[in-house]
Amino acid sequence: MRSESFRDKMNCVTWAIEKLDYAAYMLDINLGKVRRGSFEAQLDLTNKCNLRCIYCPLYSEFVKGNFNHKKASTRDLDIALAKSIISQLKMSGTKQILITGEGEPFLYKKMRELIKQIKQENLECGIVTNGTLLTSDISKFLIKNKVEKIIVSVNAGDSKKYKQATGADYFGVVTENLKQLNALKKRGKNEKPKVFISFIPIKLNVQSLFDIILLSKEVDASLILKKFISFKGTERFQIRYDKKFKNTLIKFEKQCRNLKVKNNIPAYIDEVYSAKIPFCYAGWLITRIKINGDVVVCCSNNNYVIGNLKKNSFKEIWYSEGYEQFRKLHRDYDKRVKCGFTCKKCQLHQINKKVESFDFKKIFFK
Ligand SMILES: C[S@@+](CC[C@H](N)C(=O)[O-])C[C@H]1O[C@@H](n2cnc3c(N)ncnc32)[C@H](O)[C@@H]1O
Ligand code: SF4
Ligand code: SF4
Repeated sequence: MRSESFRDKMNCVTWAIEKLDYAAYMLDINLGKVRRGSFEAQLDLTNKCNLRCIYCPLYSEFVKGNFNHKKASTRDLDIALAKSIISQLKMSGTKQILITGEGEPFLYKKMRELIKQIKQENLECGIVTNGTLLTSDISKFLIKNKVEKIIVSVNAGDSKKYKQATGADYFGVVTENLKQLNALKKRGKNEKPKVFISFIPIKLNVQSLFDIILLSKEVDASLILKKFISFKGTERFQIRYDKKFKNTLIKFEKQCRNLKVKNNIPAYIDEVYSAKIPFCYAGWLITRIKINGDVVVCCSNNNYVIGNLKKNSFKEIWYSEGYEQFRKLHRDYDKRVKCGFTCKKCQLHQINKKVESFDFKKIFFK
């Protein structure tokens, strides 16, 4: 009894601290000032990948242009630099690190070392992965180290479609990995890591959506729909955002509710169908660090480089003139579209929208 009430009190304290943090960010955003580090930092660890997804800007055989890594030399973020970056982010006030990238993070050999450091620094940790390498050993490690969330990209509902979508026959492996992680969590009565299944509706997989909802139910995951960003050569996969698709989404949202599967379908519908584009808050809430140390403004606008961590500290870059210009430019949608085509198709629409509606608690799909 005593420990329960202590835990309740601690939860209340954590809740109050979180609220104060959110309020402080909102105040800064409203004043147009920056007084604390990026809320979330997205960290790329490697550009190696074991899949060849047809929609991927980096590995799709259909993408024309210089995104493609197939011929480029593959590289990792230097481990010493990675460790220094994590410490610098902590000192600047960052709350959470999302390990993601232009490849598969679990192919980074020193991944566990970095996760341990992130947690020791008292930062929240999330990982975006294709789930193929989520062995029982890694799942146990994630549970033991209380990693907050894992976002697993599953962009097909059966083996055949999965192979067509990713070039490899790993559907069974990924689903088994998810089931195993869920079983291990349950066995130890662990809530972390929270599991999210991310799904990008495209022409090839749109019929799979209900299977993905069922899979989410089976493995106790929440469902995140992501808007497809097409590149030169992958426009052919774009589905029509027409009335029929909207009605299908509404029907699926109802089914999610019946099955008690948490999901972002309403926010996805808003992103895809709403004409109103929100402000961009990336300059306060998000930063992204690439494997060469470049600091870019977000996960979509990859070419907007503000500085490099081999030359300057994170604090110097975050409070630099360049970042200030970006913040000013991006508050106004008409101006920001001129700085890169990705802003027109911004993948952070859902997050920006939630900030506008003061739904701050849920902005990062907690
Ligand atoms: C580039 S991947 C890196 C992490 C990991 N390899 C994976 O696939 O999850 C990061 C996220 O981008 C998503 N993604 C890839 N191509 C996309 C596209 N054309 N439009 C929208 N999201 C995309 C993936 O599904 C994944 O959730
Ligand atoms: S797994 Fe991720 S990085 Fe690899 S090809 Fe697919 S989307 Fe791209
Ligand atoms: S892509 Fe979106 S989040 Fe990124 S800079 Fe442009 S508007 Fe902001």
